[in-house]
Amino acid sequence: MSNYSPIYASFRSIGAYAPQKILSNSDLESMVDTTDEWILKRTGIKERRIAADDEYTSDMGAKAGLKAIERAGISCDDVDLVICATVTPDYFNMPSTACIISDKLGIHNVQAFDISAACSGFVYLISLAKAFIESGMKKNVLIIGAEKFSSIVDYTDRGTCILFGDGAGAAIISASSKKEEAIVDVHASADGSYADFLVTPAPGTINPVSQKVIDEGLNFVQMKGNETFKLAVKTLTKDVIEILKKNSINAEDIPHFIPHQANYRIIKAVGDALKMREDQVVLTVGKYGNTSAASIPMAVNDIYESGRLKKGEMMLFDTFGGGLTWASALLPFAGENYQG
Ligand code: ACO
Repeated sequence: MSNYSPIYASFRSIGAYAPQKILSNSDLESMVDTTDEWILKRTGIKERRIAADDEYTSDMGAKAGLKAIERAGISCDDVDLVICATVTPDYFNMPSTACIISDKLGIHNVQAFDISAACSGFVYLISLAKAFIESGMKKNVLIIGAEKFSSIVDYTDRGTCILFGDGAGAAIISASSKKEEAIVDVHASADGSYADFLVTPAPGTINPVSQKVIDEGLNFVQMKGNETFKLAVKTLTKDVIEILKKNSINAEDIPHFIPHQANYRIIKAVGDALKMREDQVVLTVGKYGNTSAASIPMAVNDIYESGRLKKGEMMLFDTFGGGLTWASALLPFAGENYQG
C-alpha cells in the first residue's frame, strides 16, 4: 500500500478593505453630464469608494491581507508566498506591489510577485495558489486583489468614471489533508484578440511617458462599454455552465454565486440565464462599483462579515475583465464563521 496522502488547497480566510471616502452619483452629477437616475438604471451603482491621495494600492492590499492572515489563525511568519493581482500597481515597472505589501506586513525572504489579469485577477490567483500548494511547494499563500482604479480614471469621461472604485480583498489559501475543504475547480482563460475592448494605452513600451501621453490622456482607462457588456454576459454564463457540468453540480445547489461586480444588469442577465434565485446571487456593486481585481474578494468579505457565509458552504466565483480574461472557480469556504 502507498503512503501517499494527497495535499488539497483550501480557501481558509477572507479579508477586505474599503477606503473611507465615498464618491456618490450626485457627486458625479457635478463633475460630468450624467444623472443619478441614469447611473442607477444602467449600472445599479449608487456609490463607490475612493482612496486618499496618500493611500496607495499596497496600503489597501496590506490592510486586507492582515485581516486574512489573522482570520486564518496563522501569523505573518507562516506565509510562504505573496501574490497580488492589480492593474493599478504602486509602480508600473518595479518593485511589484506584492513586494511592497510583504514589507508592510513584515513578511521577508518569501517569494512575492504581481499578476495582471484585470478584473479576473483574483480568480487567476486562486488557480496559482492551488497549483503551488497541491504540488507541495507552498503551504500558506496570501493572495490579494487590490486596486486604486481612481488613479487611471478620467473624471471627465462619463462613460467610465461612473463605474470604477478603489479597494482591496485578500485570502489565505492553505494546504489541507481534508478533501471536503478542497478548492474543487478553477477555469481561467483569455483571448487577446479583444485587447482593445479595455485598455490603458500608457505608460508602456508602446507609449512611454511623453507630452503626447499627457495631452491625449493616454494614461486613462478606455473602454468599449457596450461591446464589453455583451461579451461579458455571454462569456460569464458559458463559463459557469461548463464548470458546473464538469463537476456534476447543479446551479440551484450553490448557496453563494459571487460574480464580478461590474454592472447590475450584467449580473442580472447572467443570474437569469443560469436560473439562479435572488438569495444565491451576491451583490455589492451598488456600494463599491467595479473594483476590478478586488471585486470578488470584497464581495466574499461582505457576506462573511454579515454572517451569510458559513464554514463549508460552496461558493461559485465568475469573473471577466480586460485582456480579455475570464475565470470561474468552485470552492467551499474552509474558514471559521465570522466572530465579529
Ligand atoms: N450618463 C449619461 N449618459 C451616458 C453616460 C452617463 N454616465 N455614459 C454614457 N452615456 C450615454 C452615451 O453617450 C450614449 O448616448 P448616445 O446614445 O446619445 O450616444 C448612451 O448613454 C448609451 O451608451 P452605451 O454605452 O450604449 O450605454 P450602455 O447601456 O452600454 O451602458 C455602460 C454603458 C454602463 C458602460 C455599460 O456598457 C457597461 O457596464 N459595460 C461593461 C463594463 C464592464 O463590464 N467592464 C468589464 C470589466 S472592467 C475591467 O476589467 C477593468
